[in-house]
Amino acid sequence: MRNIYPNIFKFNKKNLYRAIRVLKKNNLIGVPTETVYGLAGNAYSEKSVKKIYKLKKRPKKNPLIVHYYDLEILKRDAHIDENFKKLYKKFSPGPLTYVLKKRKNSKICHLTSSNLNSIAVRFPKNKVIRSILKEINFPLAIPSANISESISPVRARDVIDDFGKKIKFVLDGGSSKIGLESTVINLIGRAEILRPGFISSNEIGKILKRKISISQSNKKILSPGLLKKHYSPGIPMKLNCKKNEYKAAFIVFGKKYKNMKNLFNLSPKGNLKEAAKNLYKVFRLIKKLKYKKINVSKIPNKGIGIAINDRLKKASR
Ligand code: TXA
Ligand code: MG
Repeated sequence: MRNIYPNIFKFNKKNLYRAIRVLKKNNLIGVPTETVYGLAGNAYSEKSVKKIYKLKKRPKKNPLIVHYYDLEILKRDAHIDENFKKLYKKFSPGPLTYVLKKRKNSKICHLTSSNLNSIAVRFPKNKVIRSILKEINFPLAIPSANISESISPVRARDVIDDFGKKIKFVLDGGSSKIGLESTVINLIGRAEILRPGFISSNEIGKILKRKISISQSNKKILSPGLLKKHYSPGIPMKLNCKKNEYKAAFIVFGKKYKNMKNLFNLSPKGNLKEAAKNLYKVFRLIKKLKYKKINVSKIPNKGIGIAINDRLKKASR
């Protein structure tokens, strides 16, 4: 069979080293992570990071997350404290991103962190991205591999959907295990969640031994991506609907929906983790089928349901 995606490569030793060569030349690659697929470039290289902003059409004031293998290189770039150490021990590598104070002599280029004196850092768990990070001596700036504000990719071919031939090299790691972006926690000052994700504020609160709130502030833009329309299929979307309308797509959750037209069930068995994994796939499918309107039923607002509702709210703005 002809390979219809000549820029998607399976993960093996040869392609791992090919990916590393691309990165060392300050070019970009598409990579799987356990949350969503990312667009990776050398976080120390202005040339690479400029390419990321350009390809994604991302506003320069929206900083990127820097991805590390472990603490060794991180310690040269960021100040770490007790809270960080406790959370790192429990949740990393994994889907948690920490906002830390940037070191003055850090090699992270200014554009990566939008000239802020903080940086967001993450230690991804997916074996493909980890095997790359293990082999290189610089960290990777990796935003989600989609055009700014659109749907995050959860499969290699989703990356091609947005970038086409503009991306030369995407490593295939199958479907993203989690399917939603990492939790972002600001550890500068009073710990606070900037973006809900797979790891909940309750789990974090248990480790830090206090209640961790989810930031509601919209004056001080700490995480610019939090405020705007985001994660969106670009179709009008209404939330908390009890029933559907004629010809609209109906995104639902749980057992009670059966044999209805235009139904997209995130998890027929009512499992929130499964729903998270399906959310962006369903968005993409509905877009492909050219629906003009989306209605969404109520999704339980607990555990990863909080992150699902956060993305739905932003997609429906
Ligand atoms: O799961 C993830 O985090 C994925 C995978 C690829 O690792 N990456 C991801 O990156 O979602 P991106 O660029 O789509 O979202 C990064 C978020 C944005 O909301 C951004 O504003 C915030 O992190 N951020 C980055 N640096 C920050 C900083 N210094 N202070 C506050 N927020 C920051
Ligand atoms: Mg994104």
